[in-house]
Formats: sequence, C-alpha cells, structure tokens
Amino acid sequence: MSLIFGIETSCDETACAIVRDGREVLASAVATQIAKHAAHGGVVPELAAREHLEALDVVAEEAFRTAGVGPESIDAVAVTNGPGLMPALLVGVSYAKGLAVNWGRPLIGCNHFMAHIYGAFLHDDGYLLLTRKETYPILALVVSGGHSSLVLIEEDGKATHLGCTIDDAAGEALDKGSKLLGLGYPGGPAIQKAAAGGDVKRYHFPRPLTGTAGKALALEHQYNFSFSGVKTALLYQVREARETNADTKSDFIRDISASYQEAIVDVLSRKAIKAARDFNAHTVVVAGGVACNGELRRRMQQLIPPSMLLRLAEPRFCTDNAAMVGGLGYYYFRDGVFSPLSLDAFARLPKISRVPFAAVAQ
Ligand code: KG4
Ligand code: ZN
Repeated sequence: MSLIFGIETSCDETACAIVRDGREVLASAVATQIAKHAAHGGVVPELAAREHLEALDVVAEEAFRTAGVGPESIDAVAVTNGPGLMPALLVGVSYAKGLAVNWGRPLIGCNHFMAHIYGAFLHDDGYLLLTRKETYPILALVVSGGHSSLVLIEEDGKATHLGCTIDDAAGEALDKGSKLLGLGYPGGPAIQKAAAGGDVKRYHFPRPLTGTAGKALALEHQYNFSFSGVKTALLYQVREARETNADTKSDFIRDISASYQEAIVDVLSRKAIKAARDFNAHTVVVAGGVACNGELRRRMQQLIPPSMLLRLAEPRFCTDNAAMVGGLGYYYFRDGVFSPLSLDAFARLPKISRVPFAAVAQ
C-alpha cells in the first residue's frame, strides 16, 4: 500500500490530498481564494501566491486530520509543477520540496492538465477501468479556465492531442462573459445559475469551427475550438440591449446567459462526440472545472453512443483539487519515476504525449 500526499497550487485553489494507491481518496482538502480574487474580476497571480503561502499549512493539517494518518505514513509527495500561474506554482513546489526533505520521501512533479484527466478516474471503479483493455481508446475532453482540449489516450499510454482552443478556453469564455454580464467571478457557475429556466434559442450565438457557418470546416480545425467570437457576439448583444432597453433586466440576463452557455456546451459536446466516433473511442472522459457544468453533463449523457462509456469527473474532482495530483503521482511512485529537488515550475509545458496510468501498458 502506498500513500501519496498531493499538493495543488497552480491557480486560485490551495489543495492538499492523501490518496491510497491512486484509487482511494482518504482526504481532499481545498481552500478556495475565490472571494479574494472576485473583487478584481479574475485571478491576480501574486495575490494567489501569498494566499497559498498562508493556507498551505492549514490545508495540509486538515488533510491529515481527515485521513486519520500522520506524515510518517506518507510514501511520496506529489505536486503540480505546471502549467499554471508561475508565482502560485512556485509556492506549492517549494512547499513540496520542504516536505519531501523533511519526511525523507521522494518528490514527484505532476502535470496539471494530465492530473485533470486522471480526476475522472478517482470515483467508483475508475482505477479498475484503467487496467482493462476494453476501456481504450479514451477520448478526453479537458475543459477548464486554461484549457479546452481533446486528447486521445491509447492502451499503451500514448496520448495524442487532437485539438485545442485557438483563442479563449471554454472556462475563460464563461468567466469573461460573466464579467460582461455583471454576474461575477468565477463565471461558469454564475452563468449556469443565471441561465436556469432561460430560453436557449432567444439570442443567436455563433458555433465557431463546427462547419455550420455556411463554409466548409478546414481539416486542421476539426478538433479545435474557438470561443472568442462567441464572447464578442455577447458583447454586441449586451450593447444592443442597453441601447434599445427593450427587455426587462432579469429576463434579458436569464435568456442571454442560457443562450451563451448553450453555444459553448453545444460546441464542446458535439466536437467531443465527433472525435470519439472518428477515433473509435470506447470511453469518453470530461474533466476540468467546466465539467462541473450541469448542462454540459446532461448533453454528454444525451449524446453518448450506447457503445461508449461516459466518465464525467465527479464535481469535487473537476475544479482544482489535490486528489487528482495524489492519484496521478501514485503511478510515478509505482514506476520509481521521481523528480530531483531542483524540480522547477513551468507556466507552460509541452503537450502531453504519454500518461503513466494506462495500466495495460505494463
Ligand atoms: O479546473 P479549474 O478549477 O481551473 C483551471 O485549471 O483553470 O477550472 C476553472 C474554470 C473556471 O473558468 C470556472 O468558471 C469553470 O471552471 N467552472 C464552470 C463551472 N464551475 C467551474 N464552468 C461552467 N459551469 C460550472 N458549473
Ligand atoms: Zn485546473
């Protein structure tokens, strides 16, 4: 049995977790800084770093208390070392180094994007699924504040990026859209709430890179996303509404939020299902903060072909958390792949080309 202590500080969540053998989350403690950043309408990196510094000890203690184990039981320290906000990452990485030295345990650097994908396998029989050949290929839709990507994972662990956003990420489009509508930060949950019961067809929004604008979709973009045009369309609709003042405010906000959210959900779900069909995926994964979205979850359930298994990450493992880091870190620990104490943090990292958790690879 191995217990991995996971640490996540890449953005505005300070998180520590204790995960057994990549499959059982004994504790997943998260302290969110949302209230601190909300006043600025988005995450301020230096502020995030200071908050992480203050919160880490408390969050780590909470993880130990919940798990009911002490530091002596920990076998390795896994930490997100990129991609993310540099000042924020540096705090987590430095903290992890301190713990690793102090506890005399190996240090393991983890890729945040890859950890999000693993987050979809932390509940129920996820770990077992990964050991079965029939689970592969896996098509993963990773949608967060920083990413909107489609990745194909094969049974030997090979990962291929099929596409990504060419401008804004889905979460970024929701966050910026929410700001425009005066709904606050983070935008995803705010828009979801405002959109409840709204008319999704009332306002028209484009569906970029889906080949529906009357011209054929370039092959190079078939698995790419683009959301900045949707955001610009929102800006124009808001301006127009302000000028004409034709609608009552609450109806306008509800229907425009619903139509805007629908445009994003429609593109994400249709492209993910198309990619899954094109590559004969056996499993479709939806992970990252935007995977919390109720409408996206419903749509994926509606569209998933009966021959494919849908793995929606549990909401608590969608937004940033350390359980996904402790879970992913287990595989590196099992394989004896450790990071040196000189481990660096990276705002950006090359696209992933291999995952350690495709267990059939062994
Ligand atoms: O994965 P995450 O916590 O951080 C990054 O790695 O970026 O994702 C944060 C993003 C934010 O853009 C937030 O608005 C979005 O996830 N999000 C949602 C929902 N909850 C969080 N988007 C849509 N619907 C939600 N319920
Ligand atoms: Zn994230």
